[in-house]
Amino acid sequence: MPITVTPFEAGIGADISGVDLSEVSPAEVDQIRKAWVAHQVLRFRGQKLDDDSLANFSANFGELEGAPIGFKTMNYKTDRPEVTVISNIKIDGEAIGGLGDGEAEWHSDMTYIDMPPDASALYSLEIPASGGNTWFMDMYDAYDALSDDLKAKLNGLTCKHDATRSSDGKLRNGFEETYSREDLPGAIHPLVIQHPESGRNALYLGRRLNAHVMELSPAESDALLDQLWVHVRAHAKTWSQEWQIGDLVMWDNRCTMHRRDSFDASSRRLMHRTQVRGSTKPVAA
Ligand code: OGA
Ligand code: MN
Repeated sequence: MPITVTPFEAGIGADISGVDLSEVSPAEVDQIRKAWVAHQVLRFRGQKLDDDSLANFSANFGELEGAPIGFKTMNYKTDRPEVTVISNIKIDGEAIGGLGDGEAEWHSDMTYIDMPPDASALYSLEIPASGGNTWFMDMYDAYDALSDDLKAKLNGLTCKHDATRSSDGKLRNGFEETYSREDLPGAIHPLVIQHPESGRNALYLGRRLNAHVMELSPAESDALLDQLWVHVRAHAKTWSQEWQIGDLVMWDNRCTMHRRDSFDASSRRLMHRTQVRGSTKPVAA
């Protein structure tokens, strides 16, 4: 069966059908890679993947990244160390995975390191009856829609990305509540980056919490970041994934942000997850 790519009406993301991810051929990987760069987020429905197949499929896109800070100490183990768990499920009172049941605000993954992952993939094993949708935002579009004045203003600016909090805003183990912006653990990246494969410019925000534009005073930095966040929330294209069991969603972490809706704490949501290690540092546009 040939691979079919069906772009979503939202203008970001595409459904990929006609492929079994547990046994992809090199030609299929090539097609999937092209679709991933072109559409930024890919969804594959009806997949049956164990941790080996999930890790092996993901490894077609590059070396796999280890678990984000905070996951390494979890007791619950998957069949492959590169596969981590996103879940609200607790065993003997202990969370088996990250992010709980609350909302996760807009973010890109692990931008607090020098070479953030190129891709992340989530595979759904259990889903709640409602809630828990994952939203994706097109950061090319977010950049393109900026006024020329604002684009000019962003030229040469860099932003510190906070390593101390997870995507649900919680303080990670071993970090202080507050730091000066100079001491804040994290990485500094250009605010506008050029995507190494598409060549397009993308706004690179990471997340809002504890972000600092290093070339500006704290007040100017907050004003600029607030302005950018109002802009992206109002103007950038978004698509929301309503999960079915067996969906694999893989995104380009360099040109998208994502967020998650909260869901009923008494229901169960279980995702297995991989990340493809960054192949380059984010480069200024
Ligand atoms: C992630 C993430 C959102 C979700 O895995 O990086 O942000 O829907 N997950 O669980
Ligand atoms: Mn994330």
